[in-house]
Amino acid sequence: MFSYRHAFHAGNHADVLKHIVLIAALDHLLEKETALTVIDTHAGAGLYRLDGDYAGKSGEAADGVLRLLAAKPAGGEHAPAIARYLALLREFNPKAKGPDYRVYPGSPFIAQHLLREQDKLRLFELHPTDARTLDANIGQLDAGRRVSVVRDDGFGCVQSLLPPPSRRALLLCDPSYEIKTDYARVASLMEQALKRFATGSYAIWYPIIPRPEAHGLPRRLKSLATRAGKPWLNATLTVKSGRVETSDAALGADRRPGLPASGMFLVNPPWTLKERLAAALPQLVATLGQDKSAGFTLEAGD
Ligand SMILES: C[S@@+](CC[C@H](N)C(=O)[O-])C[C@H]1O[C@@H](n2cnc3c(N)ncnc32)[C@H](O)[C@@H]1O
Repeated sequence: MFSYRHAFHAGNHADVLKHIVLIAALDHLLEKETALTVIDTHAGAGLYRLDGDYAGKSGEAADGVLRLLAAKPAGGEHAPAIARYLALLREFNPKAKGPDYRVYPGSPFIAQHLLREQDKLRLFELHPTDARTLDANIGQLDAGRRVSVVRDDGFGCVQSLLPPPSRRALLLCDPSYEIKTDYARVASLMEQALKRFATGSYAIWYPIIPRPEAHGLPRRLKSLATRAGKPWLNATLTVKSGRVETSDAALGADRRPGLPASGMFLVNPPWTLKERLAAALPQLVATLGQDKSAGFTLEAGD
């Protein structure tokens, strides 16, 4: 059915961007006492080994989180959002002596780690093996009814979960875009979500690749947010040129080290996020950039 397995990509530059944004957004949203519901529409397996077969084969973490851990930050100190991300990773790797971290938490474990007693985490994963692994990983946490794992289509969550009873939610939508129709489904999820629960916070990850649907997605999201009268924030990180390398073409679906750039699009972003990313993104470019094409963008609209 699906050939995408996130274990090959865990800790790559796209995860670094996505998870820095996720943590910064959650930190802000968790300042209020009222319960927060976090919905992760495409959860993956939850926890990954950076020294295992998958990550070892792809080598993507080596150019992502492992490089960030090993590098001296430009200017001597990490920007607060990066420092916060690395401190959270440290908690999953308490025994590591240097930057040789072995465990990488995916979005479900990052969220679970930060959420409080009163909050809820709703996880969707469709891949049978990853859903089973996620279920087993979450099972070990003894989180009870606060966390649920559903082996179902995450795009279908809007009707069943929005708005949540406390009327506070962050929805992360992070598909693999393995199927071309994912781009249209993301836009349609956003449209429905804004109709049902216009004050929720939404974070969409997307790849920046030479494909019309991928180019069109942030534009569609901007116009949906603008039409709904909601603020948005779009952060992108490019680590290398998007020129297709012939050696990459033969690697197959599970090995795509060629992803040059990605973006996080937020609707109703926490107001502190832009400033935090403005400090973090230049440092990410300095550390993770691989060639002259490396760069970032940070754009907001009201
Ligand atoms: C990019 S990965 C998720 C990574 C995860 N959010 C993280 O940051 O750690 C995308 C996941 O979506 C799953 N998936 C694909 N289509 C899906 C669907 N329609 N509903 C739920 N999960 C889906 C894939 O099996 C894959 O594990």
